[in-house]
Amino acid sequence: MLGNFIYHNPTKLYFGKDAVNSLKDELKNYGDNVLLVYGGGSVKKNGIYDKITEIFKECGKNVAEVAGVMPNPTYEKLLEGVKIAKQHNTDFILAVGGGSVCDYSKAVSVSVHCDEDPWDKYFIRFEEPSCEIVPVGCVLTMAGTGSEMNGGSVITNHEAKLKIGHVFGDDVMPKFSILDPVYTMTLPKYQMCAGIYDIMNHICEQYFSGEDDNTSDYISEGLMRSLITSSRAAVKDPQDYEARSNIMWTATWALNTLVSRGKTTDWMVHMLGQAVGAYTDATHGMTLAAVSLPYYRYIMPYGLKKFARFAVNVWGVSPDGKTDEQLANAGLDAMESWMKEMGLVMKISELGATQDMIEGIADATIILDGGYKVLDRGEIVDILKASF
Ligand code: NZQ
Ligand code: ZN
Repeated sequence: MLGNFIYHNPTKLYFGKDAVNSLKDELKNYGDNVLLVYGGGSVKKNGIYDKITEIFKECGKNVAEVAGVMPNPTYEKLLEGVKIAKQHNTDFILAVGGGSVCDYSKAVSVSVHCDEDPWDKYFIRFEEPSCEIVPVGCVLTMAGTGSEMNGGSVITNHEAKLKIGHVFGDDVMPKFSILDPVYTMTLPKYQMCAGIYDIMNHICEQYFSGEDDNTSDYISEGLMRSLITSSRAAVKDPQDYEARSNIMWTATWALNTLVSRGKTTDWMVHMLGQAVGAYTDATHGMTLAAVSLPYYRYIMPYGLKKFARFAVNVWGVSPDGKTDEQLANAGLDAMESWMKEMGLVMKISELGATQDMIEGIADATIILDGGYKVLDRGEIVDILKASF
């Protein structure tokens, strides 16, 4: 049964080749002082930066920049962006990059006019903004997080050794996002595959929870099947537009508030992965890949029916003559071979985690109760050890 829910996603999307040409029309809706936010320079190498600045010029915008937003954007960087945004009297923020740049721009948008410390308010106390929010638009260059159509913003505080995400409401979600699959074609394979696993895991986090028959889970199964097919094609030929466009669209639907409607969700792989990220600064999707199988194999007995269904409906495992347990195992085996095929990192030790970090990572792992088994701290330590 589906529980009661509200579904409202205010983000407008422009999808496809040359979708950036719509930026001109969108910019008319906002004031002249624009803050352009981007990462470590990929947008300069692949020409996206030139294209965007040309559009700004045509529209007569007065542009300030925040460059160098790092993967896993930090609290210090957030404060730097807030300062620049204030000095510029920013009317509108344009994020051009991957999830980190989009997440970061949302964090700046709720902090520019905030009188309190944004880390404490949003990432420790999880409060909603009570100040004016600067509108954000995105030009996405990497498929994975779904940040282009959600309210999520993940910030890392190295001093506190915490990486924490706040899912903000409708007012903080991007006003529009521009998704041109061609823009993702310059991604290094490592990042492309990390993004692919991030997408897969977003769907799993929402799928592996609850026993009810509901439409959201059927949508999730379709999304996963599309992703498996298109990821194989993209690994074979990174310039395959069909594959890259399907991956990009799947990423958006995987985490734009749709497939969680009316059901419970898990999110423990992300809690573990984020804690690993706080200690290693490793690539988000790889932190998830490294903890996933030990986690799923551990909780499988508590959600056996769903894991058996996953094997059949997602991985095409034949149910003939198999018990639910055999099926469930076969499904996870199929996922494991696909993960290896994608070249994902399967151990946290390969991401820079060391044995002496385990207790700290366990402490930094937020325990949620929506999955098939509520973990205690000892179980978290065991899963982290099994991920080594
Ligand atoms: O910084 P540049 O030079 O642009 O390089 C980036 C970066 O090094 C590069 N890249 C991006 N697009 C490219 C490109 N390189 C060549 N060509 C392109 N077209 O890729 C690297 C990774 O970029 P990043 O934005 O960090 O990746 P991703 O999109 O995976 O974002 C990761 C961040 O999002 C958070 C993660 O925790 C992490 O901080 N998440 C946000 C979520 C949300 N908003 O809902 C949910 C996710 O679960 C996730 O936690
Ligand atoms: Zn993720």
